Amino acid sequence: MMIFQGSHILSVSQFDRQAIATILATSALMAPYASRKKRCCVLDGAILSNLFFEPSTRTRVSFGTAFNLLGGYVRETVGEENSSLSKGESLYDTAQVISGYSDVIAMRHPKMHSVTEFATGSSVPVINGGDGANEHPTQALLDLFTIQSEMMQFGKSLDNLNIVLMGDLKHGRTVHSLSKLLSLYNNIKITMVAPDALQMPDSVISTLTNAGHEVVLTDTMAGNLSSDVIYQTRIQQERFASKDEAELYRGHFSLNRDIYQKYCRENTVIMHPLPRDSRPEANELDTDLNDLDNLAIFRQAQNGVLVRMALFALTLGVEDQLSQYEKPVNWYTNK
Ligand code: NCD
Repeated sequence: MMIFQGSHILSVSQFDRQAIATILATSALMAPYASRKKRCCVLDGAILSNLFFEPSTRTRVSFGTAFNLLGGYVRETVGEENSSLSKGESLYDTAQVISGYSDVIAMRHPKMHSVTEFATGSSVPVINGGDGANEHPTQALLDLFTIQSEMMQFGKSLDNLNIVLMGDLKHGRTVHSLSKLLSLYNNIKITMVAPDALQMPDSVISTLTNAGHEVVLTDTMAGNLSSDVIYQTRIQQERFASKDEAELYRGHFSLNRDIYQKYCRENTVIMHPLPRDSRPEANELDTDLNDLDNLAIFRQAQNGVLVRMALFALTLGVEDQLSQYEKPVNWYTNK
């Protein structure tokens, strides 16, 4: 059984189904706090250091919000140029110092495996908020939470699902982590829709096929989008050698209402880790899908708060104390 208290969260590979079930169940307990029905101050006095050395909106703000919603304080460092990493300090030294100032650390960095390297110098739990093109474990957990809650309305669970992943599967860390998590469930069919040059790395495909799942690789949308969930992604321009190279692939797999109606099922749920690139030349997820009930992208982003609250409660060992630290909400809220 996985012990969460004091553990780093670096890769989805550290979880089994039971650990994931614990995280998803703990996330569900956070809903009343996130929706301002009640407050919870179980982390009153605790400090999160949020270190974001790569652009981020949702991940950074939802880590901070999640910690605040449990009563804790957040100190933020944004941009490598604003930290001593730009003076040549090692990740190890930065970790030694920052962990001395905090109770838990969330970190994003452009280099693969950098967060694991950082964690070797940290005396407090470190949570990976994305390390280059490698992994994004908290996103994958919130994606799984979203799939579970969206499928519930159709009487389905996380087993026996048919899922399409589309776009830049080579560089997209969210789809790497999500595929590995899905491999733990039963009888999954995953269709990977991407240009050949941006297909899913072999190591991720073999994790799925070794677990007995059906994997289809294709560069065509027609005939391949009939699924329970379609998970669209952005061309990860920042991971290409040049902007021109990224340009070669932009706009190829745009999902809009027309394509959705032609190739998806009536109930296919649309997900995207966001941000969607809404510039006309990309437009991977058209705004003409905005009023579709099956567009889950903003519910998905909202779920990030619940899952990150759960990870803080579990790694800091307070998941059984939530109800003892409740308070009323005094302000106006329409959530
Ligand atoms: C993703 C990321 O940073 O990997 N965003 C996120 O965290 N929700 C996806 C992306 O940037 O395309």
